[in-house]
Amino acid sequence: MSATSSATPIYNFDIVKKFAFMAVVWGLIGMSAGVLIAAQLVWPELNFDTPWFTYSRLRPLHTNAVIFAFGGCALFATSYYVVQRTCQTRIFSDKLANFTFWGWQAIIVSAVITLPLGITTSKEYAELEWPIDILIAIVWIAYAIVFFGTIVKRTTSHIYVANWFYGGFILTVAVLHIGNSMAIPVSFTKSYSIYAGAVDAMMQWWYGHNAVGFFLTAGFLGMMYYFVPKQAERPVYSYRLSIVHFWSLVSLYIWAGPHHLHYTALPDWTQSLGMVMSVVLFVPSWGGMINGIMTLSGAWHKLRTDPILRFMIVSLSFYGMSTFEGPMMAIKSVNALSHYTDWTVGHVHSGALGWVAMVSIGSLYHLIPKVFGRERMYSIKLINVHFWLATIGVVLYIVAMWITGVMEGMMWRAVNADGTLTYSFIEIVAQKKPYNIMRWMGGLCVVAGMLTMLYNVIRTIKSEKVADEGLATKPVVANA
Ligand code: HEM
Ligand code: HEM
Repeated sequence: MSATSSATPIYNFDIVKKFAFMAVVWGLIGMSAGVLIAAQLVWPELNFDTPWFTYSRLRPLHTNAVIFAFGGCALFATSYYVVQRTCQTRIFSDKLANFTFWGWQAIIVSAVITLPLGITTSKEYAELEWPIDILIAIVWIAYAIVFFGTIVKRTTSHIYVANWFYGGFILTVAVLHIGNSMAIPVSFTKSYSIYAGAVDAMMQWWYGHNAVGFFLTAGFLGMMYYFVPKQAERPVYSYRLSIVHFWSLVSLYIWAGPHHLHYTALPDWTQSLGMVMSVVLFVPSWGGMINGIMTLSGAWHKLRTDPILRFMIVSLSFYGMSTFEGPMMAIKSVNALSHYTDWTVGHVHSGALGWVAMVSIGSLYHLIPKVFGRERMYSIKLINVHFWLATIGVVLYIVAMWITGVMEGMMWRAVNADGTLTYSFIEIVAQKKPYNIMRWMGGLCVVAGMLTMLYNVIRTIKSEKVADEGLATKPVVANA
């Protein structure tokens, strides 16, 4: 049955479709790169003796692909969808939105080419060289114009809280990227940062930590505030708490960067300030998590039958876990053990795989049938299969990293009665092998899940259309 109508679509869902589809594709590619580097840590011969396949070049390829390609496309897709629906207006400019799509894909392809070639600034999460950095700044400013332009032309009086989170993320990432990427080019493929020494380190981790706080957290909280209530068909648990959550989160995150630089040349008071702000950050983080989970009040039974909702709720549990663990790791004495170990990598993936990837996957499963005018995803069973593969994969990954991280930290600090080290470096590496295999297996499960997702999405797109896309229906503000 086709619900045809002669009305002009008021929403631009075309841009949402493109970004949503590419999020799935880049998710699969980026996570497969993660599995490859996880395998290299067990079987180094997988470097194939070529410079392009070395761990050091593929690792930044993985991080850029999962954070900026997968996470970025998911954020573009959901923010363009949410801002149009909650403001009940079409996107500010179709052309500019299209420019952000093609520009962002061009940036990703440039990363895929330059990183394996060894072209890098060597700043973590900001590895791309200056010509690509300029393109990122231009695309990002276009994104800000489209997003805020849509808010300005809204037909509702209220700006729904999800837009506050998306807006905070867009503005802050612009400032972070432009601030941290300031460099003097010496050739088309090489530049040097204008910052030096401890100032460079401070700038880099101000950027790095807020990339976590805004790129990997605030934007995805925007997703949570729209898609969790929608999928649960319940209003947000506390709208007031969501506003307190927003302001406390954005005002605290920006101070926490120095926890990445404990026991370094950074002034001691800066490190202590970073530590204190990180510990306090626990409070808004958990406030937000509780707000998301409690949105299910009266709808808990839906978890039994709805794997999309399960993705979202499990993602919130991982969010709670990583934002408990993070403040703890920011305490200097704990960091003395965790820093330089796989404990950090476990923390990263409980946040990045458990929280970021799972909330994105849940939101994409909710959104894809809607923007393509289909009744629902092609197979709910396959979503369930994906849910279990993802959950088992993440748990295998992070448990392996916790065990091996604490173990290696303890082994490094062990000393004999005469003051010499008890274990040599290579002895510690050898002890880690079984856990590295366990992490690799967890990664394989996650990638298998992403494959089922891609298949399910393609079958959904190919299935029969049941509704016109982009028509305004009833008011959609999630707490209305
Ligand atoms: C199949 C899933 C994944 C696998 C197997 C995987 C594997 C890996 C491996 C092996 C590393 C290097 C760790 C090291 O240097 O010791 C790594 C680093 C990293 N991955 Fe993943 N990853 C996956 C998914 C993701 C996702 C979805 C994200 C983000 C959304 C992510 C973000 C990161 C980050 C930020 C780092 C750098 C961590 C640090 O510097 O401490 N990964 N990953
Ligand atoms: C209250 C919230 C959080 C706090 C206070 C926090 C704190 C920390 C600390 C102390 C470290 C270790 C720094 C080091 O020893 O070098 C760290 C690393 C990291 N965290 Fe968190 N974390 C939080 C939440 C999250 C979340 C939700 C994510 C992901 C979505 C995340 C992603 C990362 C990444 C990617 C790193 C590794 C950075 C690197 O060295 O490359 N964090 N975090």
